[in-house]
Formats: sequence, structure tokens, C-alpha cells
Amino acid sequence: MVFVKSVQSIYVEREFRKCLSKNIQIMGELYAPQGEKRMWTADNWKDYEVLDASAGEKLERWGDYLLIRPDPQVIWNTDKTHPGWKKRNAHYHRSSKGGGEWEFFDLPDEWSIHYKALTFNLKPFSFKHTGLFPEQAANWDWFSSLIKDAVKGSGRQIKVLNLFAYTGGATVAAAKAGASVTHVDSSKGMVTWAKENAAASGLASAPIRWLVDDCVKFVEREIRRGNTYDAIIMDPPSYGRGPKGEIWKIEESIFPFIRLCADILSKDALFFLINSYTTGLQPAVLSYMVKTVITPRFGGHAQADEIGLPVSSNGLILPCGAACRWQNR
Ligand SMILES: C[S@@+](CC[C@H](N)C(=O)[O-])C[C@H]1O[C@@H](n2cnc3c(N)ncnc32)[C@H](O)[C@@H]1O
Repeated sequence: MVFVKSVQSIYVEREFRKCLSKNIQIMGELYAPQGEKRMWTADNWKDYEVLDASAGEKLERWGDYLLIRPDPQVIWNTDKTHPGWKKRNAHYHRSSKGGGEWEFFDLPDEWSIHYKALTFNLKPFSFKHTGLFPEQAANWDWFSSLIKDAVKGSGRQIKVLNLFAYTGGATVAAAKAGASVTHVDSSKGMVTWAKENAAASGLASAPIRWLVDDCVKFVEREIRRGNTYDAIIMDPPSYGRGPKGEIWKIEESIFPFIRLCADILSKDALFFLINSYTTGLQPAVLSYMVKTVITPRFGGHAQADEIGLPVSSNGLILPCGAACRWQNR
């Protein structure tokens, strides 16, 4: 039997294709062409890149220097063909007893890298840290444009609270975008380092309040004082301690803490960002907490996704935790 397409079926098919291509354009924001999920990637770096990842480790370029550091997500054992694996300037070896240590080949004690107009001082120290989580640039870009738009649109002062603020990546990004920032971390050493990053980024006299404090106690005090913030950023660790030994265990502490934070968000709050590297706190978990606490009280909308870094040798994405972003519109 010869099948002849009716004029109607040709029309339906053409409309379907138009609709499909429109949807693919929309989905392109979220999904790579092969249908692979693209997630929120920090893909605007010039001074940093993940060159390759294999056998529990990643090979990274931090400015002029190559580091090999452990990464528990890297459970694949692909061929280490990238020449950088042999040309590393330092290698952090994990110990079977926990922790680990740096092996140095040719690395200065300190050096710096840039992200857009920001400068970060780096040094290798305990627990494989360098003083920066480069994947967070994906979040910096998101909230920087919200802050810039709000400042430009209304001329209003945007007060940002950065909790578990570490060496101040998010603090300097928010301050550079025009916000006043309260930076809270329990470690005096980290706060000193963050101040140095602010100075290196030309923000020495920017409106930043530096506090060495326990985040939970600080927020409880702010509730009693009646102080509010237009935006809250937090990147809590799985386990941490306040300056007086206060214990932070993410699974137990995070939900009550988000509730406390809701009490210090201003009525016309701009955004709320929670980031987590803790396995188990997947995007849907973060989303559930934010959508049951923040959205019912403040409206707006929340979206959660994985955060990742592109691997330059193969174009794949290295997952680096999850984030939930709430914004007022
Ligand atoms: C390293 S960042 C977390 C970044 C990343 N999410 C991770 O898991 O490694 C954690 C920061 O929180 C700080 N911190 C830990 N417990 C704290 C507490 N109870 N109050 C304030 N800061 C705390 C640490 O000093 C550190 O700078």
C-alpha cells in the first residue's frame, strides 16, 4: 500500500517541529545538546581550570601552577594522558588514616589569581585547601547581577550577610557588585585572609563588616537586635565549630538554621543562597527546605541544581556540590 501524507498531517508535523525546536532552545539553558544536564557551571574562569580528573584526583591549573588534589567524586579511572599529570607543581596525598599532606615540587608559598575584577591570594594548607572554591564563581555571577540590577534600579543599599564565609570569595564578589556585606566566620585566620582578598581586589575601604563568630549565635543575636538583611549567602561545612567550640553538624543544624535566617531577611529581600558540598544534601533536599521556609513567607521563587566545573580535556562537568537559589522575582 502506498502511503500518501495528507496536507493536514504535513501541517501538523511542521507545527510539531517548530514547537520542538522552540522547546529545545528553551531547554538549551539547562541541558547540553546531547541531552546531558549542564547544571550551574563556573565557566567564566581564565586563571583556573580543571585540566583532567581520574582515579580519585583532579589535575588543576591555578594561574601558572598545576596542582593535583584528591576529589571523592572522581570514582572513574580514565587514562591520564594529559601531560600536566607529570608536570605538577604540588600534589596533595590523602592518607588512609584521614587527612593527608602536600608534596611540593616547585610552588611558591603564596600566589594570586584573578576572577574578573577580583583577586584571590592562594596558599596550600590543611585538608587539601588552597583558600578558594572556584566552582562558587557560578553563584557569584548569579548574585552579582541581582545586586547590580537592584542598586541600579532603585539606588537602594543592599545589605548582604555572608555566613560560614571562609576566605571571602562571596564577600568580595558581593561588595564588588555594590552591596554592603557582613562577613561571619568562626576562624580568625580565615577572616584575616578574607580581608587580604578584599584589599587585593581594591575593596580595602568597601563597606564590609568582618566578624569572628559562631554563625548560629550571631543570627540569634541579630534576631534579638531586630537587624535585617536584604540577602543571605551561606556555604556551611558538613561539620564545623564556632570560636567557643559550638558544634555545627549540617544534617542536624541546617533546617533550624534556615528558619532562624528567615527571621532576619528584610521584607523586600533580594535573594537567599545556600550552597553545600555535603553528600546527601542534593539539590532537591536544599530546594525542599528553602521552599518550605523562605518561599511561603517571602514569595518569589527558588531553584536548585548541582554546581560544577568544566573539565577542559574532555568538556565534561565535574560535580562540586549543590545550591539552592531563591530570589524575590
Ligand atoms: C570551608 S567553608 C565550607 C566550604 C565548603 N562548603 C566545604 O564543605 O568545604 C566552611 C567555613 O565555615 C567556618 N565555620 C565552621 N563552623 C562554623 C561556625 N559554627 N560558625 C561560623 N563559621 C564556621 C569555617 O571556619 C570555614 O571557614
